[in-house]
Amino acid sequence: MSAERGRAPVAGAGGPGGETGPKGAAATQDETVSTEPLLAASDVSKAFGGLLAVDRVSFSIPPRSIVSIIGPNGAGKTTFFNMLTGLYRPTSGRITFDGRDVTAKRPDRITALGMARTFQNIRLFSTMTAVENVLVGRHARMKGGLFGSILTFPVRGEERRGRERARELLAFVGLRPESFEVMSANLSYGDQRRLEIARALASEPRLLLLDEPTAGMNPQESAQLTRFMERLRDELGLTILLIEHDMKVVMGVSERITVLDHGEKIAEGDPAAVRRDPRVVEAYLGKQG
Ligand SMILES: Nc1ncnc2c1ncn2[C@@H]1O[C@H](COP(=O)(O)OP(=O)(O)O)[C@@H](O)[C@H]1O
Ligand SMILES: [Mg+2]
Repeated sequence: MSAERGRAPVAGAGGPGGETGPKGAAATQDETVSTEPLLAASDVSKAFGGLLAVDRVSFSIPPRSIVSIIGPNGAGKTTFFNMLTGLYRPTSGRITFDGRDVTAKRPDRITALGMARTFQNIRLFSTMTAVENVLVGRHARMKGGLFGSILTFPVRGEERRGRERARELLAFVGLRPESFEVMSANLSYGDQRRLEIARALASEPRLLLLDEPTAGMNPQESAQLTRFMERLRDELGLTILLIEHDMKVVMGVSERITVLDHGEKIAEGDPAAVRRDPRVVEAYLGKQG
């Protein structure tokens, strides 16, 4: 955001006594309306051998918005997410987050800057409880990486506070208290998805990336999740990027939709415009059940 960027040098450069603005904590974001995108990708590509999985995609996300990426299987949506979050290094192109170049930065660095995600294929520590999984997410922000967080598990008082906070987050995402100490492998599919979101929120992100969060959910759970995303934006000031196949969810919640097909951006706009775009109908919507 321009106001924030103009005030101080990059995070970490403040030093003792240096002015450090409110960073990361979404609830304390300054309220100035900014037109500066929170995230911007310009001409980003990813090649796997001869396959161009993402082909010169440019894209930006305004702060406090909910935007979606849609497209057929294999279109490059998850690959694009993986580049934004530092899991894959782009073959070419540039990614900025909150005005900083984050192209090919390590995932834990990007998390620390305020980006968190969930995975298309749920990635929880299956033999840990729900609370423990959230604690891992919390420390992913502070200690730099999952292994660091496991090896440096918090000491008593800190642990107790951490657990309280984890339970608050689990309640916030809609887990019932009796599930808090259940091993994550034994939770229902919907609860595992909710737990993944709680774990992502534990790192106090400003941008939350959700890769097919309603996959495997029933229509009622999907509708709940839609309302929950709106609460995250409206109450916590979060910005959300969503990959989603359920068109009811996408059309209902998105301010803007970007459509990928064979790695290329083929359309972008508000839900009504995208829905009637002939290229989108041809490549994707026409094939939806
Ligand atoms: N790690 C990888 N190595 C090789 N090919 C990959 C890898 N990840 C994805 N791909 C390929 O890139 C293309 C886009 O995949 P993906 O981003 O998962 O699509 P989507 O999420 O839109 O379904 C697919 O052809 C897929 O097989
Ligand atoms: Mg995918």
